[in-house]
Amino acid sequence: MPTFALYNLKGGVGKTAASVNLAYLSAADGKKTLLWDLDPQGAASYYFQVETAGKNEFKKILSGNLPVKEIIRESAFENLWIIPSDMSSRHADLLLDEQKQSRKKLKSFLHELKGFDHIFMDCPPGLSILHENVFLAAGWVLMPNIPTTLSILSFDKVIRFFEENNIEQEKIKCFFSMVDHRKNLHHEIMQKFYRDGVFLKSYIPYLSDVEKMGTYRQPLFEFANSGYAATCFRDLWNEIKKKCL
Ligand SMILES: Nc1ncnc2c1ncn2[C@@H]1O[C@H](COP(=O)(O)OP(=O)(O)OP(=O)(O)O)[C@@H](O)[C@H]1O
Ligand SMILES: [Mg+2]
Repeated sequence: MPTFALYNLKGGVGKTAASVNLAYLSAADGKKTLLWDLDPQGAASYYFQVETAGKNEFKKILSGNLPVKEIIRESAFENLWIIPSDMSSRHADLLLDEQKQSRKKLKSFLHELKGFDHIFMDCPPGLSILHENVFLAAGWVLMPNIPTTLSILSFDKVIRFFEENNIEQEKIKCFFSMVDHRKNLHHEIMQKFYRDGVFLKSYIPYLSDVEKMGTYRQPLFEFANSGYAATCFRDLWNEIKKKCL
């Protein structure tokens, strides 16, 4: 069961846009797909128009009072299910810290979710015990990076964190996101990293169709299926399938 975490230490780099569109493409391939919205901001749940039914679900799961399977919601799309975010996940670090085997809690929940072909996790930004859980649980850590100096700085910090905590670095697959072709800096950084072979070839440019997902509250393919942004996400998903499945 391949599991993909959309993650970056840095905020606002396109994690949620990628989680929503890649999960949609996975489901469109006919794969039974689950998207777990781990971010209390709830942006992925918002895009899929899925609301939480109960309160404190994340807290109840962690304390063993609610089986994770019970909080799965249907989406409007075939083969696609969502675990929506809820506000108790903002205390995820405190809640996890109280647990035994606190680094491997999420991994044990994913075991309970057997039956899905692909699981995607939309992560909040940061580098906490929740993120350590994500790194240990996910088969692949997909990391969107805007090609700027600060984004690369956070990329270096994540790599160092993996090294220091003996987590397999091979899990990390980076791709460039929100690329602006008018900016020389973007080109220079992309060329350097492509030379090093760390990044996937496919990338997501800065395109207004991606922003419009917030207006339509839908994955890109539902309102701009023939546009360039949709082509870029399809290329990215095809490359991920080739390299990770
Ligand atoms: N390729 C893109 N082109 C244009 N706008 C984009 C693109 N990707 C994302 N955006 C916009 O940038 C903002 C941040 O994107 P998104 O929410 O996907 O990032 P994030 O990394 O999940 O952020 P956070 O760290 O807050 O969870 C959103 O308003 C989104 O619509
Ligand atoms: Mg997000």
